[in-house]
Amino acid sequence: MSAGTPVQAPLLKVRQLRKAFGGVQAVEGLSFDLHAGEMLALIGPNGAGKSSTFNLLNGQLKADSGEVRLDTGQSLLGLKPRQIQRLGVGRTFQITQTFGSLTALENVQTAWLSHQQRRLHWGTGPLHAAQAPAQALLDQVGLGELAHCPGHALSYGDQKRLELAMVLTSEPRLLLMDEPTAGMALDERLALMTLAKQLAQERQMGVLFTEHHLEVVFGFADRVAVMARGQLVALDTPAAVQRQPDVQALYLLPAPLDRPAIPGSPPRPTASPCLQVRDLWGGYGPAQVLRGISLSVYPGEVVALMGRNGAGKSTTLKTLMGWLGPRQGQMELLGQDVSQAPAHELAQRGLGYVPEDRRIFTDLSVLENLQLTRPARGPSRWPLERVFQMFPLLRALQHRRAGFLSGGEQQILTVARTLMGQPSVLLLDEPSEGVAPQIVAQMVTMIQTLKAEGVGILLCEQNADFTQQVADRTLWLDNGVLHAQNKL
Ligand SMILES: Nc1ncnc2c1ncn2[C@@H]1O[C@H](COP(=O)(O)OP(=O)(O)OP(=O)(O)O)[C@@H](O)[C@H]1O
Ligand SMILES: [Mg+2]
Repeated sequence: MSAGTPVQAPLLKVRQLRKAFGGVQAVEGLSFDLHAGEMLALIGPNGAGKSSTFNLLNGQLKADSGEVRLDTGQSLLGLKPRQIQRLGVGRTFQITQTFGSLTALENVQTAWLSHQQRRLHWGTGPLHAAQAPAQALLDQVGLGELAHCPGHALSYGDQKRLELAMVLTSEPRLLLMDEPTAGMALDERLALMTLAKQLAQERQMGVLFTEHHLEVVFGFADRVAVMARGQLVALDTPAAVQRQPDVQALYLLPAPLDRPAIPGSPPRPTASPCLQVRDLWGGYGPAQVLRGISLSVYPGEVVALMGRNGAGKSTTLKTLMGWLGPRQGQMELLGQDVSQAPAHELAQRGLGYVPEDRRIFTDLSVLENLQLTRPARGPSRWPLERVFQMFPLLRALQHRRAGFLSGGEQQILTVARTLMGQPSVLLLDEPSEGVAPQIVAQMVTMIQTLKAEGVGILLCEQNADFTQQVADRTLWLDNGVLHAQNKL
């Protein structure tokens, strides 16, 4: 399908869609069409209403008003998610939904069976019957070789691919993908979207997707819809949308990647490392992931830990933080041996950690989440006001229940909460994931500020431009072994 004005009846017609949560107007009079075979990107700042729109379209949320129809004339509003799925609308989630205890193959087999259940009878070996189509789908999404890997041991990016394979079992005519490439490296992102585009064309499947990675948006969308505060502010071809000054101001610019990096304090070779790790081993139960890692981070230095999905980056940070049981290996924090220290003691001693999976207290407000990590005594280097200056969006959201925040808003809260704990050493796992370009710029500023204050940072980040702006050194992790160390 080429960009421009399509001729056939739209596969999906959305008119004047509305949804409010209390006083928050999440979606406010949204109208657009989506055509068979078309890739339509829905972009906008964090909290713009993109995921809410997805939830309205697939029946997870009940709309206040509006109209949503398929080309068959079938209205989707008021139907349950399962009914909508049966009408050929599949969806992947911003926060991946797979079964951790099942293998990748079993996950897809289960999804396949669930879709086919009426045609199968017990006794005909349903799981066996599902094996070949499930394996074919795993091959199609590039997970064929990991078919027998348990879901929980798959990297975040691979879980996204697994989720796509599961959705494809229902042979959707319309696919809703909420941040499909979150957590993936650039080459994998491009590979997944190439696959999605190919599927869209081959199956004449309409694809509506949200993304904060602009190379994905502008590289793969036929048209781009821009939302802000629940409303549609632009809908056009990628090139035309990029040229619109209001879209640039709202979402695209200032691109942090175009600005020269502000150098932080260079690492001081004479200073002692604030974090020193020797011969670290770790993993999940019997599965060893890390195989003898040694590294050091100096005050005011940002060290980027890089590697492919599944290389062990997040496992390194989790192991350092003591989340995976007792550490095997030696660890010094600010000159003290903390090899056996549990997570809460490390936090008290100044080790901050932003995990990749946004662990916030969903029942507490944004403000309460922030206040929880504030040190009980002494003056604070990061009082609330300074945190709000760094991330202005949080000020507006401070009284909102954290569980109601959008994916990107939760990510900002996770990072900001760690600041409140005044870390001397910070472990950052994918801080820029799921946040809009302006917020990525704020995160760059935050890291540069921390550097200038002498905080040592160990950073895992798929966004290479982001890493380049802040990192002093990169360490390459491959199969649990650090095998190279480069100056940036
Ligand atoms: N149940 C709820 N109660 C109150 N507010 C909510 C609720 N669900 C969502 N919101 C608010 O609605 C707004 C839209 O959220 P939504 O998740 O749709 O944003 P988004 O565009 O997907 O953002 P992101 O890019 O961060 O994923 C946000 O400000 C969010 O805090
Ligand atoms: Mg969202």
